[in-house]
Amino acid sequence: MNHLTSIDDVRDNHIDLFNLAYKMSLGQPRRSLIGKVIANLFYEPSTRTSSSFYSAMVKQGGNVIPINNVSYSSVSKGESLEDTILTMANYVDAIVLRSRTKGDAHKARWVSKVPIINAGDGNGEHPTQTLLDAYTIWSHFGDFFGLNIGFMGDLKYGRTVHSLSRFFRQYNVNMVEICPNYRSMGKHTRYETLKEVAKDLDVLYMTRLQLERGAEMDPNYKLTKEEVELFKPNMIVLHPFPRVDEIPKWFDKDSRAKYFEQIQNGLYIRMAILNYLLKNENDS
Ligand code: NCD
Repeated sequence: MNHLTSIDDVRDNHIDLFNLAYKMSLGQPRRSLIGKVIANLFYEPSTRTSSSFYSAMVKQGGNVIPINNVSYSSVSKGESLEDTILTMANYVDAIVLRSRTKGDAHKARWVSKVPIINAGDGNGEHPTQTLLDAYTIWSHFGDFFGLNIGFMGDLKYGRTVHSLSRFFRQYNVNMVEICPNYRSMGKHTRYETLKEVAKDLDVLYMTRLQLERGAEMDPNYKLTKEEVELFKPNMIVLHPFPRVDEIPKWFDKDSRAKYFEQIQNGLYIRMAILNYLLKNENDS
């Protein structure tokens, strides 16, 4: 893996990354990225992705150039994405890019001499989120075989579900969509309500309405006590966050609520990704 712009880039080595992330969660290895620098180039807001990459780098002894608000960079003077990448690639060992337009990460990859990590390209993909989502599921169930996975919410515009459903195509899992027709990915069996499938799910992956991508306000999907009562005892509920009002706070204490663990896994997975991409060949 030289770049991570699509989940397809880790089709063959994601288990290595999971094992590395597990080691990271145990506190090893440390300081292996001393002298390395990454740029966090974010054209869209972020809390978890930018901070976890920052922390993942610093915890391994590396450094970060944080460009979290491109209005303070030459982008505000009209500089193209390609020129920004060509420039930054001289200063850093990898670029973490979040952009507004689908396909930008691929564009950046074509011109970059250092690894590009796609941290979300418009309504395209979000592969590092998928790795942490899949790692959370893998940690809980041991493998993916035979799982029933339900995606719920704004599946049309939500990039996290695009990458995650793409990832699971290589596994024997059953995926369903829970959303109105106009919010569908159009890829799996669709249910209008959670009640219809709640009792069968092993994983419920919820998402917010992507208002910034053109989604219009409509009656949102909110988890109700009635639906929760139908859940299996060992199923899990995930959400990439930010949540708006899809998951009420009272559910946070339920043992099936795994979204805070998911956030924590985001750090370990990003430590693993950076380690994998940046560690010198001759380092131990
Ligand atoms: C997601 C994103 O940016 O796509 N957030 C994240 O990275 N955790 C989900 C979202 O914004 O809805």
